[in-house]
Amino acid sequence: MGMFNNRKRWRVPAGVEPTELDKKVMAFESRGALVPKRSLIRTPEEIEGIRKSGVINTAILDLVGEKIHAGMSTLEIDEIVHTYTIEHGAIPATLGYEGYPKSVCTSINEVVCHGIPSAKEILKEGDIINVDCTTILDGYYADASRMFVIGKTTPQKQKLVDVAKECLEIGMAAAKPFGFVGDIGNAIQQHAHKYGFSVVRDLCGHGVGIKFHDDPEVLHYGKKGTGMLLVPGMVFTIEPMVNMGTWKVFIDSADGWTVITEDELPSAQWEHTFLMTETGLEILTH
Ligand code: MF3
Ligand code: CO
Ligand code: CO
Repeated sequence: MGMFNNRKRWRVPAGVEPTELDKKVMAFESRGALVPKRSLIRTPEEIEGIRKSGVINTAILDLVGEKIHAGMSTLEIDEIVHTYTIEHGAIPATLGYEGYPKSVCTSINEVVCHGIPSAKEILKEGDIINVDCTTILDGYYADASRMFVIGKTTPQKQKLVDVAKECLEIGMAAAKPFGFVGDIGNAIQQHAHKYGFSVVRDLCGHGVGIKFHDDPEVLHYGKKGTGMLLVPGMVFTIEPMVNMGTWKVFIDSADGWTVITEDELPSAQWEHTFLMTETGLEILTH
């Protein structure tokens, strides 16, 4: 008695014949798996829209890569991003997002993420900086970030940048259709720990595409087989933040945005927007 589990997340609209995919996901849900809402599955048209947004997003980060140099301010990076975005008929997603004031996030050294570009912040030799850019084109969101090394940095900081990139690649490889989001975080965490680095726990990857931040929540640590079921047609980011010291972070009370490592040791992050296909992840931001 007592059917409490009939509020299903995966709901096939009335009058629609369930597909093989529907049946497969419903079987997972019946066995107690956390499945996505059916509305998280992007249509081919939506995927094309996100892909086009991704092309602009990639061009922006390529351009930043060409222009970034010691002696420039992070505000100049913001201007490059803003100008290119607008000139290509797109919108910088962060500008005005929950009150965020700029078109890109620029996070140097011990800044983990959400650093606000400023005329007073000048890049110097040896800095490592994450440039995180989200683009809206025709209503479709693409979100990616890269690290840039200003000139030559220390071997330790270079290792952190490289391992953070490998964490993204390893997380990508761990994501399989009808696997779970936790498989991604588990692979990332193991790789970071191999080098004595830690993984930030307070911020995660996210569904993206028709909104900036959507389900699923993509933790960059955790256990295999936990979290949401990965279903072909889902679009989400993986964006591991890897720290040289503690995983703990705080938010700078001066601006309410800048996330900084608690021990003020460096942090590195790479991000792509991905589509789950029948065989694995496809990158939509390169
Ligand atoms: N691009 C970031 C992400 O990867 C979000 C930045 S939101 C902002 O999810 F408001 F801080 F810009
Ligand atoms: Co993101
Ligand atoms: Co981002």
